[in-house]
Amino acid sequence: TDGVLVDRYGRVARDLRVSLTDKCNLRCTYCMPAEGLPWLAGPQLLDDREIVRLVRVAVERLGVTEVRFTGGEPLIRRGLVGIVAAVAALEPRPRISVTTNGIGLDRLAPALRAAGLDRVNVSLDTLDPERFARLTRRDRLADVLAGLAGAAAAGLAPVKVNSVLMRGVNDDEAPALVRFALAHGYEPRFIEQMPLDAQHGWDRGSMVTAEEILAALRAAFELTPDSTERGAAPAETWLVDGGPARVGVIGSVTRPFCGDCDRTRLTADGQVRACLFATEESDLRGALRAGAGDDELAARWRTAMWGKRAGHGIDDPAFLQPARPMSAIGG
Ligand code: GTP
Ligand code: 5AD
Ligand code: SF4
Repeated sequence: TDGVLVDRYGRVARDLRVSLTDKCNLRCTYCMPAEGLPWLAGPQLLDDREIVRLVRVAVERLGVTEVRFTGGEPLIRRGLVGIVAAVAALEPRPRISVTTNGIGLDRLAPALRAAGLDRVNVSLDTLDPERFARLTRRDRLADVLAGLAGAAAAGLAPVKVNSVLMRGVNDDEAPALVRFALAHGYEPRFIEQMPLDAQHGWDRGSMVTAEEILAALRAAFELTPDSTERGAAPAETWLVDGGPARVGVIGSVTRPFCGDCDRTRLTADGQVRACLFATEESDLRGALRAGAGDDELAARWRTAMWGKRAGHGIDDPAFLQPARPMSAIGG
């Protein structure tokens, strides 16, 4: 490698999150409006070869060891299996994961596994079909459950289940979601809602905090601290009823983990972001299409990461939501 992605606070980014599309086949109320968003136009999107090229630069020259594909919804990207196969062929081979809403995963999981995908995280906020339809504005709970089962059957492991709890909507479901996940061998995690929705409707008071999530879990289970090394993982984990089953809580807002952050991000239109909450992006697509070589792409990426801020700043009085919503950044 010709240098790692280090920032001025000494953090090293080894984990690359790549958004493959800003589109999605659900419309979760905490993410997108019912009518969708002004999607990126075709020519703005990196094509499959451009994506693989940039991931190759990150892996071969910048020390990235983990690649996660996100969206929008990454499974709706036609070239996904081929992209995974190309990334799995890189040296040194990175670990490869996908964060998905699970729709279509039953059909795609065997091909993804064969292409080199290691593991998946699947979003599931409720087990009730009517609630699911209200929350995601699509009646597709059965597809998500089939996707989860298909992922496990294909040998993707671990399968993690991500749930965002919302006050008065699904905040009574934490124990049921844990029981469901553990019964199927999935790892449940609960996520504090972050101010990244397109509608700018996030409000601190309606966010269910990590503390509230833990209280709800403790009312149903015995939680003991998990001694496995957390590293840069967003999730703090606990053993459930003595273990070995675990539950995770991602307290991005009230228990930030920015000091240990090891992430760098690439959007579907080829912009590097040093942080989910970054206000600046670095245009690698422009450089790539202007004929930049690997050296120049790597140098630009390093420069972008050097400017990473210490933290998300959600608590600053002057905090402003990033211009792009989570679906366009890649969670
Ligand atoms: P693992 O590698 O399996 O631990 O995945 P992950 O938890 O890092 O990723 P996943 O895509 O499952 O995201 C779960 C939640 O964590 C989502 O709400 C993400 O937006 C959030 N998340 C992921 N990375 C970051 C990050 O760097 N900062 C913050 N604040 N939240 C993040
Ligand atoms: N805050 C926290 N998590 C969110 N997700 C989507 N929007 C938000 C938000 N505003 C979750 C999804 C998915 C993961 C990638 O991020 O539910 O599980
Ligand atoms: Fe890293 Fe930014 Fe997430 Fe903090 S908010 S953990 S710095 S990406």
